[in-house]
Amino acid sequence: MKAKSVKRNWSAKTNTLSFSSVFLICIFFFLGGFFCSTLIFHSQEEENDIRPRPMTRLLEKSAKEETKYNLLPAGESGDDFITSIPFQVLSWRPRALYFPNFASSEQCKRMINLSKGRLRPSGLKLRKGETKESTKGIRTSSGVFITASEDETGVLDAIEEKIARVSKIPRSNVEAFNILRYELGQRYVSHYDAFDPAEHGPQESQRMATFLVYLTDVPEGGETMFPYENGLNMDGSYNFEDCIGLRVRPRKGDGILFYSLFPNGTIDPTSLHGSCPVIKGTKWVATKWIRNEDQGRPSII
Ligand SMILES: *[C@@H]1O[C@H](CO)[C@@H](O)[C@H](O)[C@H]1NC(C)=O
Ligand SMILES: *[C@@H]1O[C@H](CO)[C@@H](O)[C@H](O)[C@H]1NC(C)=O
Repeated sequence: MKAKSVKRNWSAKTNTLSFSSVFLICIFFFLGGFFCSTLIFHSQEEENDIRPRPMTRLLEKSAKEETKYNLLPAGESGDDFITSIPFQVLSWRPRALYFPNFASSEQCKRMINLSKGRLRPSGLKLRKGETKESTKGIRTSSGVFITASEDETGVLDAIEEKIARVSKIPRSNVEAFNILRYELGQRYVSHYDAFDPAEHGPQESQRMATFLVYLTDVPEGGETMFPYENGLNMDGSYNFEDCIGLRVRPRKGDGILFYSLFPNGTIDPTSLHGSCPVIKGTKWVATKWIRNEDQGRPSII
């Protein structure tokens, strides 16, 4: 009897024990499952990277680049967005870059419109011994200098800012736009944009780089040529009117950037370039000369 009751007591105890342990185990697994799922959810969240991030703004509407970037906090003069402007390296000698669709068709139209009716025959900076008569035929285009502030629609301002972004030279260093028109047969024989002090005397500052925006399609001719690209044709036999070497076909809205100076500030001889005669159509181009010294112009960026 004693033994029996002890036995029963014991089994009653085990029953209670197993009940509470099952209950505990259930709670353990329930909580465990809950935490595990939360952990997995969190790690997935981290993998998909759906945390809120600073707003990214793509300047290029055409670039359907949906890539998101984890931006850094910028300095006071910096941007809180990513700039994405595609380019192709056309040449390293000279350093020449191609920017497809740099300006929109509307922007090109506006730039032509601004200049129409204000065009004058393009000038030349004469070297010692040269006269207007002796240099006739070297540069036959017409053009006009216009500053960004003269265009109340803001197109020139937007283009100038974009040029500063890609060249990484502040706007304070640029000259006004020189918008040029080349009609049938008009050209600019090969020349340098930088002024050699040996020929032009001491210079306060140099044209270190040039940005061209083509404002029209030119069906034939009118290419921008670099006859000395990669050191070609530099044996002294080159006739400056010949349209040879690296040639860039003008296409509406496209831009090119090339550097006339080496990084050490001396003139890059391979930066010789010209505009081939227009054979069909009319070539309009907006030229932006970038100087190696501040031009005392307002610079926002
Ligand atoms: C071109 O200029 C004229 C006035 O000179 C203006 O009426 C017209 O809207 C302009 N067109 C564009 C595309 O800017
Ligand atoms: C400047 O750099 C160019 C290209 O690297 C080099 O050929 C030239 O000798 C350099 N000139 C001076 C004065 O350092």
